[in-house]
Amino acid sequence: MAEVYDLLVVNGVVVTDTETGEFDIAVKHEKIAKVVPRGGLSGVSVKRTIDAQGGYVMPGGIDSHVHLNEPFIMAGGRCADDYEPGTRSAIAGGTTTIISFAPQSKTEPSLLAALAETHALARSNCYSDYSFHALCTNAGPVAISEFPSLRAAGISSLKFFMAFEDLQLHDDEILDVLLQARRNQMTILVHAENGQVISWMTKQLEKEHLFDPKYHVNSHPPMAELEATSRAIALSTFIDVPILIVHVSQPAVAAYIHEAQLKGLPIYAETCPQYLFLTREDLDKPGFEGAKCVCSPPPRSTADHEGIWRGIENGTFTIFSSDHCPFIFEDIEGGKKSSISPEYPNGRFQYVPNGVPGVETRLSLALSADRLQLQKFVEVTATNAAKLYGLYPRKGALIPGESDADITIWYPELDSFKLKNDMLHHNVDYTPYEGQTLNQWPRYTVLRGQIVWDRDNGGVLGVKGYGQFLERGISSLAGPLRPEKDWNPRDF
Ligand code: URP
Ligand code: ZN
Ligand code: ZN
Ligand code: ZN
Repeated sequence: MAEVYDLLVVNGVVVTDTETGEFDIAVKHEKIAKVVPRGGLSGVSVKRTIDAQGGYVMPGGIDSHVHLNEPFIMAGGRCADDYEPGTRSAIAGGTTTIISFAPQSKTEPSLLAALAETHALARSNCYSDYSFHALCTNAGPVAISEFPSLRAAGISSLKFFMAFEDLQLHDDEILDVLLQARRNQMTILVHAENGQVISWMTKQLEKEHLFDPKYHVNSHPPMAELEATSRAIALSTFIDVPILIVHVSQPAVAAYIHEAQLKGLPIYAETCPQYLFLTREDLDKPGFEGAKCVCSPPPRSTADHEGIWRGIENGTFTIFSSDHCPFIFEDIEGGKKSSISPEYPNGRFQYVPNGVPGVETRLSLALSADRLQLQKFVEVTATNAAKLYGLYPRKGALIPGESDADITIWYPELDSFKLKNDMLHHNVDYTPYEGQTLNQWPRYTVLRGQIVWDRDNGGVLGVKGYGQFLERGISSLAGPLRPEKDWNPRDF
């Protein structure tokens, strides 16, 4: 009996992180079954064929920094997207896997309890595949003792904050986390900004009656990010454990990280669209509009964008993710406008919830900028995240017999258009990129062999609940660098 495939993708140019070529792909049982030179699948039996003539065929995007349905303690905000609109937005933008957070609150000793709560929020609600990073805000003995159980539950990464009173860890707590991460081969994500500098600057600004959203930028000076980054690198080097600095906003920080990398230290870095496409001037828009672009670290100056692009090109940045953290602009209870009161009619920047939406626009913004080599684009938007977070080669690749059939197809000849929020599938009443000229949008998104997005025929075709939880193993990027011998205080 001749083999029957579920899906063929033919006549396209296949681009992975390491190869570009005219290949045809056969999919069976949710997996990549074959990748052969163009024409090599003619005559096979198949249920459905996508003719990708003139298009680029890439591994589905992986967005490894997404906030969904989090009770944002920070500035009293409430995340606008829960798992349903958040993951619908992901597939419509070409992203087939997201990694969001299982947030622990300061008053909750257990990371496993936070994980169970987050599973309940995501289960049966996802359009894309998903996993979680543990988010540790209370590094007490309970949390520290739970790292092996997190690993057993398929959670191999954890984020902590060095900023925000209700969230941040102090250096001794950071050392506890790093040591336990080393012992359990977990990958650590660091929000590197000095929280006390930010609090102090906020007080100085408020004393001068400077409350507008634009002063958020002043309250997060570049030095606060550079200092915390250097401290995170010093602490992780002391424990000898890899870390990833998330959402790096400035070239000076990228340069510092690059120096560490050149010394052979296992330091990884992430940047995001807001540091390439937004500027501090966007926070100065009249009518409180500036609040739409309040995030931490804040967007910097236009001059800084070039340095961030270079950091992606030269490998300083391992990952380009969205830091999708959506708040409804008009919402006066948990959204951006919750910072407005009769006394402060233009808000009070310290109470504007931090974060911008971007899970759906991440790939199109980067590709439309026409700046990165396509293989580099795949590397930083999909493959590296899969490697760093223990999903490779199931995700982020198109390897027969190994990879899930997660595919995004682009047609570069698409006429340019202006982005409008009503094109998007999130639950937010704005995009910070409104009016941005784009010339790329995914035509098809395929998740485990199912066409879940068809731009020209029906839009979102995926169904809620098709998205699966992904258990993750150890990092294949940072993994080999992990030392054999246990850390020992006598060695110092
Ligand atoms: O402003 C931001 N980035 N909000 C999301 C939370 C975080 O720090 O990643
Ligand atoms: Zn403190
Ligand atoms: Zn952060
Ligand atoms: Zn974030």
